[in-house]
Amino acid sequence: MTMRRFIIIGHTATTSGDFSLNDLSGATGRLDVLLRCVNSALFLSHEMRRDTEIRLVLLGPPNAPKTIALNGAEMKHLNPDERSTAALLKAALNKPIFGSSVNAGAGISVSRATFKVILANAAKDSKIIALKEDGADIRAAGLAPPLTFVLSDNREFSDDELQALKDAGAEFISLGPKSLLASHCIVLVHNELDRKES
Ligand SMILES: C[S@@+](CC[C@H](N)C(=O)[O-])C[C@H]1O[C@@H](n2cnc3c(N)ncnc32)[C@H](O)[C@@H]1O
Repeated sequence: MTMRRFIIIGHTATTSGDFSLNDLSGATGRLDVLLRCVNSALFLSHEMRRDTEIRLVLLGPPNAPKTIALNGAEMKHLNPDERSTAALLKAALNKPIFGSSVNAGAGISVSRATFKVILANAAKDSKIIALKEDGADIRAAGLAPPLTFVLSDNREFSDDELQALKDAGAEFISLGPKSLLASHCIVLVHNELDRKES
């Protein structure tokens, strides 16, 4: 069962597989930010976090929205480097989507669901936590899994996204006083939960 889920909004991230693996930060609408989030969400030193899943909500051109889900319980061919993860996502984005979603290999699927739908589905089986610098301190929050953490990329959440989070009953939680990289936030969340569980 997925106990920890992360949803990252990629406001400009490409929705086409037509990009070069040699220019991940330039040609992909900052897909590189999301690639680092995949690494932070799913990797331990010598194994994978099988209780974790991550959803990348891609809002860039030319076919937005698309959401790629990576499920740690089923992943087989994921490696820690950004380039090979990008190759998996590229192949997933090249798959035509007939119906609501398509399987893109072990543990990977792609859908056309909007952020609101992704959020509503997550709220059915977990508590929604929006990570935001000015939220309540995570160390004072009594967090108990299953939990879905929602992060923005290198941009702020839009007003519509904040409203959707409120509508989904999200609690707004902070990881500390500094504005951190999204991928670093994921590592900190895992660490807080690991300590609680140990
Ligand atoms: C690099 S920040 C982007 C917003 C940033 N303020 C900016 O000006 O671009 C990426 C995301 O990580 C999360 N984040 C960053 N620092 C955080 C903190 N101290 N506590 C909770 N979430 C944080 C938020 O979801 C944020 O939207």
